[in-house]
Amino acid sequence: MVFSKEGVPYEQDQEEDCSQERVDRSLDKDSGQQQEGDGPINESGFSEAVTPKGRRLFYWGVLMYVMRPNDGYKQSLRDLAKSLLSKGAVSHFVEIGSFSGESAVIWHESLPDSTIWCIDPWLPGYDPNDAASNENMTAVEKAFDRRVFGCERLVKLKGTSDDFKSLSCLQSVDAVYVDAMHTYEGAKADIEFWLPRCKLAITGHDYNGGWPGVIKAVDEVVGKPDFIFPDSSWLKWIKR
Ligand SMILES: C[S@@+](CC[C@H](N)C(=O)[O-])C[C@H]1O[C@@H](n2cnc3c(N)ncnc32)[C@H](O)[C@@H]1O
Repeated sequence: MVFSKEGVPYEQDQEEDCSQERVDRSLDKDSGQQQEGDGPINESGFSEAVTPKGRRLFYWGVLMYVMRPNDGYKQSLRDLAKSLLSKGAVSHFVEIGSFSGESAVIWHESLPDSTIWCIDPWLPGYDPNDAASNENMTAVEKAFDRRVFGCERLVKLKGTSDDFKSLSCLQSVDAVYVDAMHTYEGAKADIEFWLPRCKLAITGHDYNGGWPGVIKAVDEVVGKPDFIFPDSSWLKWIKR
């Protein structure tokens, strides 16, 4: 049985694809010993385990797909949020590409007066150069749902930006974080879509040499960023 933070049981779907990704918490049937690497669940429900894909984080036995493995990656997002708040109110903040919800919960914590809109289709195969694209996106979406459980100002929008282009609340927002497609064409399309809708700033991830398409798209559409954070998040002010 999988429980939420509040101790309420989640409905467990035995058919879900992510079952293969789970660590079997039962004792080894021959030795009766706990399986190697299957760490104890702490009082918040988290545990770590060694799987064929390396050391991974679980929440009540459900794989959480960690992309930001240390606090440095998270601090950059907190700092980015602080920069936004230093320039003005942030009522509506949009994230394009939310994956398992790590960045989404940081926005929710760091932007305490904002509605956080998370847009992601949670479909695999979107980019052959992005390892995240090969993950089991059904399981990733479930990790997102569990991670953002209780984030009452967060709105999950399953689809691409284009699917929500008519939503009145998204015609004019304070800031957007673009972290979806990392190809030149994909990043450019997202930035061009959102730039006219942003009042305060446009921001995103992966402005680094590993993603030349992102750098080219940012430079072409908005110019050199005003700030690049240690995790390679970028920020361009619209209102100075
Ligand atoms: C690198 S991950 C996002 C990581 C997340 N922002 C974080 O920091 O934890 C990229 C995500 O973009 C999503 N994605 C791919 N194409 C997209 C699109 N056209 N619109 C929105 N999201 C997209 C993928 O499903 C994937 O979850």
